Amino acid sequence: MSDSHSKLYPPPPQIVAGAHVSGMAAYEKLCAEAQADYPGYWARLAREMVSWKQPFTKVLNDSNAPFFKWFEDGTLNASYNCLDRNVERGLGDKVAIIFETDDGKITRVTYRELLERTCRLANALKAQGVKKGDRVVIYMPMSVEGVVAMQACARIGATHSVVFGGFSAQSLRDRIQDAGAVMVLTADEQVRGGKQLPLKAIVDEALGMGGCETVRKVIVYRRTGGQVAFDAARDLWLHEVTQNQPTTCEPEWVEAEHPLFLLYTSGSTGKPKGVQHSTGGYLLHAALTTKWTFDLKDKDIFWCTADIGWVTGHTYIAYGPLALGGTELVFEGVPTFPDAGRFWRMIQDHKVTIFYTAPTAIRSLIKAAESNEAVHPKRYDLSSLRILGSVGEPINPAAWEWYHANVGGGRCPIVDTWWQTETGGHMITPLPGATPLVPGSCTLPFPGIDAAIVDETGQDVPHGQGGILVIKKPWPSMIRTIWGDPERFKKSYYPPELKGYYLAGDGASRDPQTGYFTITGRIDDVLNVSGHRMGTMEIESALVSCTELVAEAAVVGRPDETTGEAICAFVVLKRPRPTGEEAKKIANELRNWVAKEIGPIAKPKDIRFGDNLPKTRSGKIMRRLLRSIARGEPITQDTSTLENPAILDQLAQSN
Ligand code: PRX
Repeated sequence: MSDSHSKLYPPPPQIVAGAHVSGMAAYEKLCAEAQADYPGYWARLAREMVSWKQPFTKVLNDSNAPFFKWFEDGTLNASYNCLDRNVERGLGDKVAIIFETDDGKITRVTYRELLERTCRLANALKAQGVKKGDRVVIYMPMSVEGVVAMQACARIGATHSVVFGGFSAQSLRDRIQDAGAVMVLTADEQVRGGKQLPLKAIVDEALGMGGCETVRKVIVYRRTGGQVAFDAARDLWLHEVTQNQPTTCEPEWVEAEHPLFLLYTSGSTGKPKGVQHSTGGYLLHAALTTKWTFDLKDKDIFWCTADIGWVTGHTYIAYGPLALGGTELVFEGVPTFPDAGRFWRMIQDHKVTIFYTAPTAIRSLIKAAESNEAVHPKRYDLSSLRILGSVGEPINPAAWEWYHANVGGGRCPIVDTWWQTETGGHMITPLPGATPLVPGSCTLPFPGIDAAIVDETGQDVPHGQGGILVIKKPWPSMIRTIWGDPERFKKSYYPPELKGYYLAGDGASRDPQTGYFTITGRIDDVLNVSGHRMGTMEIESALVSCTELVAEAAVVGRPDETTGEAICAFVVLKRPRPTGEEAKKIANELRNWVAKEIGPIAKPKDIRFGDNLPKTRSGKIMRRLLRSIARGEPITQDTSTLENPAILDQLAQSN
C-alpha cells in the first residue's frame, strides 16, 4: 500500500481544460467559499442547481439538532427537476436513457418520452388512491420502468422505497411492513445472466406472510411474460393501468424536507434501518456531485452499473444524471454474461464516456481477463472513455492500477468516491479536473463537506494516525431520520461523546503530506461484501431462526480477494458437531436457509461448526478471536478471560 501511495497521478490536461471544477485552485476556492459562509455557499448552489416552485428563504435550521432542516420553506418537485425542466430547456428529443437488456436488446428513451411515461404512471397511481406522503415499495428489475416508477412516485409526492430484487420474501415483507406501504410495484420476473428469476411470486409470498395489510394494490410490469398468479382484487398490470392515462400530470409541489424516499440498509443490530431522505437537499447534492465529480457535460454518455435497489442507483441513475439533462446507459443483467467482456463491449458499442462501477466487479473482471484473453478490455475500443469511477468499498491499489491502465488507457482519472446510503451522495472524492490521484485513496472532501478523523472523544487526531471518520457539519443531502425510529437515528449517528459530529461508521486515516483520506473499513458490526452492506447480527439472526438445527451462531468478516470481505459463520448445532461430508451438507443447507431469510447476497462463504463458541465467563462471545480464526491468523490476543480456551483449536481446525 505505502509503495503505491508515493505514486501521484496529476489530472490530465485534456480533462482539466473545460472541467466544471478546473484545477486545484478552483477546488480550494469553493472550499474557502463554504468555509467563509457555510449556509450562503449551499444556498447559492441550491438556487443554481435546483428549480424551485416557491424559492426558499431559510437555508439551514439547526434548532433541533441532529434533526437538521435545509431550505425548509422552499417547495419543489424532483420529477419536475429531472424531466419537465429538461423538456422546457429544449432537450425533449435528447436521449435520456439508453437501455440494454440481458440479451442485448437496446431501447432509447428521450426526455419527452420519459416525462410522458412518468406522467401516465403518476396518474395511474393517483387513480389507485396513492397520495402525497404514502409509501410505495418498488421491487423491480433494472429497467426503464423501474426509473419511471421512482420518478412517478416523486411526481405525486409519494415516498418510494426500492427493495433490491435479490432480497428474499422475508426481507421484502419486513421492509413493506416497516414502511407501512400502500402499494407494491413489481414485475412478473427479472432476467439476470440468461436466467428468469421470480419477482411477483416473491411479492405474493411476502404479502402472504401477514403484517402487510396496508398494501392495497400490486402493480406488475410484464417483463418476461412468464406465468404468474394474479389476485383479481389486488393485482393490476402496469400496461393496463397506464394505457388510457393522460401524458401530462401536474407535479405535486412538496416542501424541501418532504421525504423523497426511504432506503433500507444494514446497521449494527438485527433490524435494517429505513434511511429517510429529503427532496430539496438530496436533489441538490445528487445534481451537484454528478456535475462536479463526474464532470458531466451535454455530450457525455454516462454509465453507472449499480442497481436501482441501492443508493448508488438512486443518486447516479434515477436522479443525478437526469437532473442535469444527461444521457445515461442503464443495463439489465450481470457483468459476466454472456461473457466477462459485457462491460467493455457495452462501453465500446454505446461510446460511454464516464463509467462508474464497484471494485468487486473490477476484481472479478481482472480474474476473467487473466484467464481468457478474449474478454480482456484491451480487445475492445474503449477510446470514448474520459472518466472512470469507483464506489462501495475500498479499491486496492493493484485493482486501481489495472483499471487505470487497461480500461482507462492510462488517460482517464479514476474518481474513488467515498459515501454511504445515509449521506445521499459523494462526500470524499477526487474531482477529475482538479485532484491529483493516489491509488487507494478517496483523496479530499467534496467542497463544502467537513470531513475529519477523530478519536472516541471527538478530538481531532493528527494526520498519519488512524481514527473515526466523522462529518462535522450537517450537509443538505444527509439522512433526516430512521423511518419510525428517531431515537435509533440519534444513537446510531450522533452519539453524545462525538460532540455533535455525524458518525459514519468507518475508520480512516489521512496522509501526513497531502491530507488525503484512506478508508480502512467499517468500525462497527457491518460487513461489506461485494460492495453490499450486511449486518453481522442480521445474518446471525437468520441462522438462529433455523431453530431445528442451530443452537448458536456468530458471524464475522474476513478479507477476500474478490469480494473485499467474505462472511464467515461459526455455528453450534443442536446435534453433535458434524465433520466431513455431513458438515458440508449441513453448511449448504444453512447457506440456502440464509438466502431464503435475507437473500443470496448474505450467504456465508465459510461455515465452521464447533461444540461451543469462545466466550468470556459472563457468556459474551469473543468475536475478535473469531475474526482471527476466520482470517487464519495465530491468536495473539489475551485469552485469559476465556472460559473455554480449547474451543479455539477446534474452530481453527474445523473447516
Ligand atoms: O464502508 C464504506 C463503504 O461502503 C459503506 C457504505 O455502504 P452503502 O451505504 O451500502 O453505500 C454504498 C455506496 C455508496 C461505507 O460506510 N464505502 C463506500 N464507498 C467507499 C467505501 N469504502 C472505501 N472507499 C469507498 N470509495
